Amino acid sequence: MIVSPSLLSADFGHLADDIAMLNRSAAQWLHCDVMDGTFVPNISFGFPVIKAMSKLTDKPLDVHLMIVQPEKYISAVRDCGAAIMNVHQEACLHLDRTVHAIRQAGMKAAVTLNPSTPVSTLEDIITEVDMVLLMSVNPGFGGQSFIENTYAKIARLRKLIAESGSKALIEVDGGVNPANAPKLAAVGVDVVVAGSAVFGAPNPEEVIAQMAAL
Ligand code: DX5
Ligand code: ZN
Repeated sequence: MIVSPSLLSADFGHLADDIAMLNRSAAQWLHCDVMDGTFVPNISFGFPVIKAMSKLTDKPLDVHLMIVQPEKYISAVRDCGAAIMNVHQEACLHLDRTVHAIRQAGMKAAVTLNPSTPVSTLEDIITEVDMVLLMSVNPGFGGQSFIENTYAKIARLRKLIAESGSKALIEVDGGVNPANAPKLAAVGVDVVVAGSAVFGAPNPEEVIAQMAAL
């Protein structure tokens, strides 16, 4: 599986050290959580910080925008070095336009669903997206528990992808750890995001290697 550690749980006082650790690790992508205090009840970091992170790594940045009107920031996200731009379905009035604009800007387009948003909302866009991110917690905070209903959503999403001929990857974000990662790999998840399970571990590189080997 591709492991995309969430920098939300990194030590912001020593970001360069944490990114150096991720560079040495088996993580294939780095996940950057942008929160605006409106779409989610928390504020994290923004573009200047992502730009600084991108200078410290060659690994693709997987930028998860938990913000309203993400379409306003497509070129800003691209200019800070993002490879993948994740927008929430719930935040996009014109999702088709936004997905195409993200691709036009040279990034992979990913659409994120909150835990209560059905997979069926993606029926008419699934062949146009590079990835679907299923939130397995309500977005806004690290360290929450995995919502078990996510497994049913993964099954529905796999069916939609198979039936449509889409090449979209499946990413899961929230409460992922070495205990539930094997089951996620077994049900067909391609990418896992993990924040507290990585940065809260005595040996983060070991935790990443364990999940990357699945
Ligand atoms: C939650 C963020 C997640 C978060 C995951 O709103 O989108 O990426 O950092 O953290 P853990 O792995 O601790 O649930
Ligand atoms: Zn995230």
